[in-house]
Amino acid sequence: MSTTDNPLIDMTDAMTAYVGAEEVPGEDFRDTALPGFKQTLTSRRSIRVFDGEPIPEEVMRDCLRDATLAPSSSNLQPYELYWVRDSTTREKLVEACLGQPAAATAGELIVVMARRDQWRTNLDKVWDLMTKGGTKTMPEPVDDYYHKITPRVRKTDALGLDNLLRRVVFWFRGRKGATVRSPVNTGDHRVWAHTQSSLTAMTLMLSLTAHGYDTCPIGGLDKLRIRKMLGLPDQAEVTMVIAAGRRRPEGLYSARVRLPYGDLIKEV
Ligand SMILES: Cc1cc2nc3c(=O)[nH]c(=O)nc-3n(C[C@H](O)[C@H](O)[C@H](O)COP(=O)(O)O)c2cc1C
Repeated sequence: MSTTDNPLIDMTDAMTAYVGAEEVPGEDFRDTALPGFKQTLTSRRSIRVFDGEPIPEEVMRDCLRDATLAPSSSNLQPYELYWVRDSTTREKLVEACLGQPAAATAGELIVVMARRDQWRTNLDKVWDLMTKGGTKTMPEPVDDYYHKITPRVRKTDALGLDNLLRRVVFWFRGRKGATVRSPVNTGDHRVWAHTQSSLTAMTLMLSLTAHGYDTCPIGGLDKLRIRKMLGLPDQAEVTMVIAAGRRRPEGLYSARVRLPYGDLIKEV
């Protein structure tokens, strides 16, 4: 499928921001979407040996753009995907992935970064897109959410005074009723960013699968080396690397194993 055939995305210019083109599932959506979805889901396996052939550029762009359709908290999209195309950088990345066969044989490698440090920049950009450069007025609650609540929640300070204050406020508020109890420390902000980047990573893997390619998420790696290699600041963190390409038969190491339904799913 060419990128321009994707009904969900205007890919006339892959570099422009995505706004609009909402698809509302119709009556027959389930009949058409479900078989393909199930097939995509069950075809995705972690593949450790690929044939090494690159994935066509336009397929990669389509999949990467699909990945950005993942949901994110406050729509702040605090992640970045680094599609590593430079051969020297790629060699270093394979090394940082401890030379794992999935990385060494992949057609493509993508580093998924969690960027908790970019919440402010992204908030301003998202606001600009939502308001069409400030020409469209948003309802007051939306304005408050983006300009009062979110900055208060996402702000961090070096001394941790804000965090302490938040802990106290949440404790008092929590005595009266249900209240949001985080973030109150750096760990909370880190988890927040990795949550969004993980959802994006999963979306990318499913899109690659639906396009007929295989993937392997890689978490056994040297995060520090990768961050430095990409020239990113301390607060930027590697969530995982995704190896992608076409599988070789020996790349599927075992049958799929999942715990019983009742171990993982509690109907309460
Ligand atoms: C965050 C994360 C990190 C992973 N890290 C590695 C890794 O470093 N090397 C590897 O071979 N597989 C890695 N895997 C793949 C898992 O081993 C695999 O998903 C699991 O065994 C289930 O198999 P399946 O993906 O084929 O269903 C990782 C998976 C996830 C989600």
